[in-house]
Amino acid sequence: MRIALSTGGGDAPGLNAVIRAAVLSALDRGWEVLGIKRGYYGLLGEDDVVPMTRDMVSGIGHLGGTILRTTNRGNPFAYPVPNGDGTYREVDRSEEVVANSKALGIDAIITIGGDGSLSIAQRLVEKGMKMVAVPKTIDNDVSGTITTFGFDTAVTTAIEAIDKLHTTAESHDRVMVLEVMGRDAGFIALHSGVAASADVVLIPEIPFDVDVVVKKIRSRDLAGRRFSIVVVAEGAVPIGGEESIMGPSMPGQAKRMGGIAGPLARMLQEKTGKESRSMVLGHLQRGGQPTGYDRLLATRFGGEAVRAVAEGKWGHMVALHSPNIVTIPIVEALREVKRVDPKHDIVLTARATGISFGD
Ligand code: F6P
Repeated sequence: MRIALSTGGGDAPGLNAVIRAAVLSALDRGWEVLGIKRGYYGLLGEDDVVPMTRDMVSGIGHLGGTILRTTNRGNPFAYPVPNGDGTYREVDRSEEVVANSKALGIDAIITIGGDGSLSIAQRLVEKGMKMVAVPKTIDNDVSGTITTFGFDTAVTTAIEAIDKLHTTAESHDRVMVLEVMGRDAGFIALHSGVAASADVVLIPEIPFDVDVVVKKIRSRDLAGRRFSIVVVAEGAVPIGGEESIMGPSMPGQAKRMGGIAGPLARMLQEKTGKESRSMVLGHLQRGGQPTGYDRLLATRFGGEAVRAVAEGKWGHMVALHSPNIVTIPIVEALREVKRVDPKHDIVLTARATGISFGD
């Protein structure tokens, strides 16, 4: 048996722990393991496919990033090819992935990625490839699993940032606006904001009215709390407004979201008369060591993925259904998008403890 591993999309802390667990579990069964570099690039002649040894995965479980590297510009079904005039066209190179994988004698692929990688995996399964998926994203927006690895680390990083902003905001009587990642999902903002006692949490699932935020800041002032912490998800939208886009993406990349914190802080300063500053936490949320929770979850996912391969569960994804790791069809995970439920207990408790969602 010869299996291959691939990591695709944005990186997330815990990828190396999945790789380590999958490689060791597969070697333990006497299988051969290959590593496809940078998503599917290795199968498109754009990068390498390398044999994975015990030595290569030794001591990597606690490291951020991915030793296989990754890309979010390598969808083989919509591969960006330059036209030579600065524009790009999308070309379907999926047949090359199928053919090269066959030529390398790969019996099955374990793909580790977010919603984009899961859709690609499903389409490759429909072309006859034997694939098992491991869900990954700091955004926690993959359905069918209680959580994805990387999320806990991102939330922990955001909490540390909010804790630090608290002390400086309080010293200066300032409003501090912290922008966190998450694309169209508000999980990172909600979990970190509530855990670190923010005053305002703005998420895409609950459009906000800036005047309601102003009112909250003023009422804190009146109560002698002369500083406020606003946590805003990069995908948060004002009522009747649009999400912020950070700027142009590279060819083949999804829209680059973010940039709401600066204009929001300026607006709050204008309307409240209080000094307001902004900070974008950005890729710090994706880097560094995974938390213990993420390392364990990633390790469990890696081990289960190999068991799923052994059982021939093609087109399945490993998932956390606490307290167990299970497998579910990838199509089930793709059926619906996962977003914060505005009626979720975390939202209800946040409101009950005085956090404003700006609505
Ligand atoms: O999906 C993970 C994520 O970190 C999002 O939260 C964020 O919008 C995006 O990736 C950023 O991607 P990139 O690193 O390609 O700009």
